[in-house]
Amino acid sequence: MRTVIAFTGASGAAVGVEFLKRCPGEKFVVFSRWGKAVLFQETGLTPDDLAPHCAGVFSGDDFNAPFASGSTPFDQYVIIPCSVTTLSRIAMGLGENLVARVAEVALKENRRMLLALRESPLSAVALENALKLARLGVTIMPLSPAFYLKPGTIEESVEKFVDHMLATLALPTAPGWRADRL
Ligand SMILES: Cc1cc2nc3c(=O)[nH]c(=O)nc-3n(C[C@H](O)[C@H](O)[C@H](O)COP(=O)(O)O)c2cc1C
Repeated sequence: MRTVIAFTGASGAAVGVEFLKRCPGEKFVVFSRWGKAVLFQETGLTPDDLAPHCAGVFSGDDFNAPFASGSTPFDQYVIIPCSVTTLSRIAMGLGENLVARVAEVALKENRRMLLALRESPLSAVALENALKLARLGVTIMPLSPAFYLKPGTIEESVEKFVDHMLATLALPTAPGWRADRL
């Protein structure tokens, strides 16, 4: 299983880091320019700090990266956190940075894609873009806490959101809500 994980300039970089650590298989990371900036602002981490958790890190302006081409196989593409700007680029087919180009590739090659979208409130433009992509089979997963799981800390809330992401991608994860009743 090969996963490409992108960080954009939306809030919630810590969730992306947790997902990167827990997603099984071979992983590659792509950063937009503001993805790097927000990662540092919110977690104090740089892309180099994430390198031990993946097989490679690529910059958003690197169109020589293997995943810029559909001939490089990958199983799934996860953008976490995903800004509404990146959502718009993808919906409009503007592969003007590597994050959006990999999405273009995922769409044309019919590969699984999940966008952990983070913005609030959402404009009609963002909602229309999300709907357009959802209709094309893209999973739109708003980055929001699962209060029903009663997280006690921010770390727990992050952990539980990542549990849900893994379940959504059909990857091994925690048993889920009211598993005692299964
Ligand atoms: C600290 C910080 C937090 C941000 N949070 C969000 C957010 O939650 N959602 C969003 O869509 N944009 C957010 N932005 C704005 C994006 O970074 C900006 O629109 C950027 O152009 C997105 O480009 P990218 O998608 O290529 O990374 C934030 C910016 C900063 C500096």
